Amino acid sequence: MKLLVTGGAGFIGSNFIYYEMEKHPEDALVCLDKLTYAGNLATLEPAMEDPKFRFVQGDIADGQFVEALFREEKPDIVVNFAAESHVDRSIEDPGIFLRTNVMGVQILMDACRAHGVSRFHQVSTDEVYGDLPLDQPDLFFTEETPVRASSPYSASKAAADLLVQAYHRTYGFPATITRCSNNYGPYHFPEKLIPLMITRALADQSLPVYGKGENVRDWLYVRDHCSAIDLVIRNGRPGELYNVGGHNERTNLQVVKTVLRELGKGEERITFVADRPGHDRRYAIDPAKIERELGWIPETPFEEGIRETVQWYLAHETWWKTILSGEYRNYFKRMYEDKGRGSL
Ligand code: NAD
Ligand code: DAU
Repeated sequence: MKLLVTGGAGFIGSNFIYYEMEKHPEDALVCLDKLTYAGNLATLEPAMEDPKFRFVQGDIADGQFVEALFREEKPDIVVNFAAESHVDRSIEDPGIFLRTNVMGVQILMDACRAHGVSRFHQVSTDEVYGDLPLDQPDLFFTEETPVRASSPYSASKAAADLLVQAYHRTYGFPATITRCSNNYGPYHFPEKLIPLMITRALADQSLPVYGKGENVRDWLYVRDHCSAIDLVIRNGRPGELYNVGGHNERTNLQVVKTVLRELGKGEERITFVADRPGHDRRYAIDPAKIERELGWIPETPFEEGIRETVQWYLAHETWWKTILSGEYRNYFKRMYEDKGRGSL
């Protein structure tokens, strides 16, 4: 079988490629990635050694390019991770989110239809459900929760999900969707909360927490997300939607303090900064459907996953230090200093 993995030079896509290589060494893998600021070829260096792996640089929203690639590679399964993924960037500049996250999905699905792909899997997010109140801990997102996005990022992901469901209903298109909670682990780009805190704490820099740090996220170790997607693409029912999460809710402040404890650092550099506009209060996934139907269970407890993640960042300084140089610094200036969030 041949899998086309889009966005495989990013955080979750690269972890998925390594998961598949280990779990299904008989399968061939093609990675299509545009290599935006978030895509890093260094992440895929070990994969390049495998003769069953091929990397192709390209844009999922470029119809002619995608058509030519499908003609050449004839994939059996397409797993779409490619996306603009950072909420703060979507607030700054929504356009590219619509192009990649919505138009890109339509182009991929049309290519799948034209070339008889047997399964298209859309990697979606719990953010399409909007948020939950902080004072009702018994409320969770189920697959029946209505879509109610808060940011341009989550609106673009919600639009893509609706399009995937419409293709299934209209054309009988063999698609599945997973909506997962916040991931963490190796190769996580250091603009996101956990790697941002690890890398800044190691450099003894300030640790910017939005608002009061009371917002809650439901954290899942990235390998557990990969195992869920693997089960869905192989055993999930076409047309179905599966929520993925491990009941691991933490406030942002708790997460930052856990990271600091693991690094043996004090809390004195925690700095409360201006809040994210429209900041979702709480995400919490009910994963009962994927557990019941496909037997998925998350294997990594939060404390263990954070320990492994911190160890990974300590052992891979070159990977993140390269990212943190150059153009990336301008991003920090725009996102924090220019927004009055203080000088970092
Ligand atoms: P990421 O930003 O780390 O990686 C995205 C990858 O997509 C990068 O390699 C980038 O170069 C590539 N890409 C971007 N635009 C492209 C385009 N037009 N054509 C081809 N490639 C393109 O993102 P991530 O955190 O790994 O997220 C992967 C997917 O999982 C996204 O669809 C995201 O919405 C979803 N998701 C993420 C999380 C999370 O916690 N990170 C949770 C649930 C769902
Ligand atoms: O829930 C799944 C989503 O998780 C994915 O769909 C997104 O692609 C992914 O980026 C992530 O979105 P979040 O907005 O939850 O992740 P982020 O790491 O940006 O922020 C996590 C929380 O930490 C959020 O409440 C905002 C807060 N935060 C973030 C940054 C970058 C801070 O307090 N300070 C910061 O500097």
